[in-house]
Amino acid sequence: MEQQRVLSGMRPTGALHLGHYHGVLKNWIQLQQQYECFFFAADWHALTTNYDDTAAIESSTWDMVIDWLAAGVDPNLSSIFVQSKVPEHAELHLLLSMVTPLPWLERVPTYKDQQEKLRDKDLATYGFLGYPLLQSADILIYRAHHVPVGEDQVPHIEMTREIARRFNAFFGKEDNFKKNAETAIHKMGDLGGKYARYRKAFQQEGDLEALEKAKLLLESADNLPLGDRDRLLGYLEGLNRVILPEPQALLTPAAKMPGLDGQKMSKSYNNVISLRDDVDTVAKKIKTMPTDPARVRKTDPGNPEICPVWQLHQVYSDDSTKAWAKQGCTTAGIGCIQCKTPIIDAVNTELAPIQTRCKNFTESPELVRDVILKGNEEARDAATKTMQEVRSAMGLDYSRL
Ligand code: TRP
Ligand code: SF4
Repeated sequence: MEQQRVLSGMRPTGALHLGHYHGVLKNWIQLQQQYECFFFAADWHALTTNYDDTAAIESSTWDMVIDWLAAGVDPNLSSIFVQSKVPEHAELHLLLSMVTPLPWLERVPTYKDQQEKLRDKDLATYGFLGYPLLQSADILIYRAHHVPVGEDQVPHIEMTREIARRFNAFFGKEDNFKKNAETAIHKMGDLGGKYARYRKAFQQEGDLEALEKAKLLLESADNLPLGDRDRLLGYLEGLNRVILPEPQALLTPAAKMPGLDGQKMSKSYNNVISLRDDVDTVAKKIKTMPTDPARVRKTDPGNPEICPVWQLHQVYSDDSTKAWAKQGCTTAGIGCIQCKTPIIDAVNTELAPIQTRCKNFTESPELVRDVILKGNEEARDAATKTMQEVRSAMGLDYSRL
């Protein structure tokens, strides 16, 4: 049985921190057990805001991929690739741009938000406005079912769904659709019978599970001509071919990883623990974390609820350690350094295997290279197939050439 497909990307930011690990990577590592996963470095997306300084993009991509691998993203389970090495993304972006109404782009919340936030940059560019459409192309070109993203990205996935619907409405129309669909079912033999039963269960009884099963059946039917697959996908829910299926956002459980100051961990807040920080750096960073300001002396009782260290206990400590810290804090039984010690140990324990793998990949760049080359190829295979259908649906087959 074919697996459903997951796709996600990250802008190349260089070496990653614990916020990425707890917020994104642990999720990816889980997903790769269950889905066919594509993970990529969105280097073109980085250009939309950093077009004036491109010098670091390549090394940032490299470091980021190393950290993915170090964290446990497994190239045997997932395809790991670089966006700009699959130029089909750009072709689909261009073709989609033809049917994308400008207001759809202008009303995406990140458009105005980012322009406000990054005021020192001129983001009144064509490329920046197109950011979410490029993201739509990234997703649709893999016909991805699920896109793990944070809350802020959900509007981009929503727009992607709208773009897919619009594209299919324009280019999925077909004379004799019904007749062609029925012929296709017939040609499939036993599988066709199965498809027809699922379709009936969905259309007559609203059986959503049957709908999903029918979709998976179509994707795993290897010798089904692509045109027929699009036809039968569309025939499940309507009377158009579905060339670009609508993806679902897979909301990443809200990252509960606080930074050293209690705000969200982020490089721009300067409050991160990097995945590459050594044992002493981790200890120093945690030891100098602010605590309840009322605890000037060890004999002053404190209130964990207003202390960022307490938030870290929520991530790293078991119930008995948490009880010990709370009790010790509120009764002035322990000092803050004492309270921080189990967290320092837990973070270092978590980072040790990651850093061993990180060192291994850093010292053997040819391993990283092979991973990316293989991922690029796998991604291109999938992207090429979709583009053949897209071109054909748009009348750009040029079969005489
Ligand atoms: N915009 C995403 C972010 O900032 C990165 C991204 C680019 C992405 N293309 C994507 C994420 C496709 C998911 C799918 O995090
Ligand atoms: Fe924070 Fe722990 Fe100090 Fe209390 S004892 S203020 S929870 S670091």
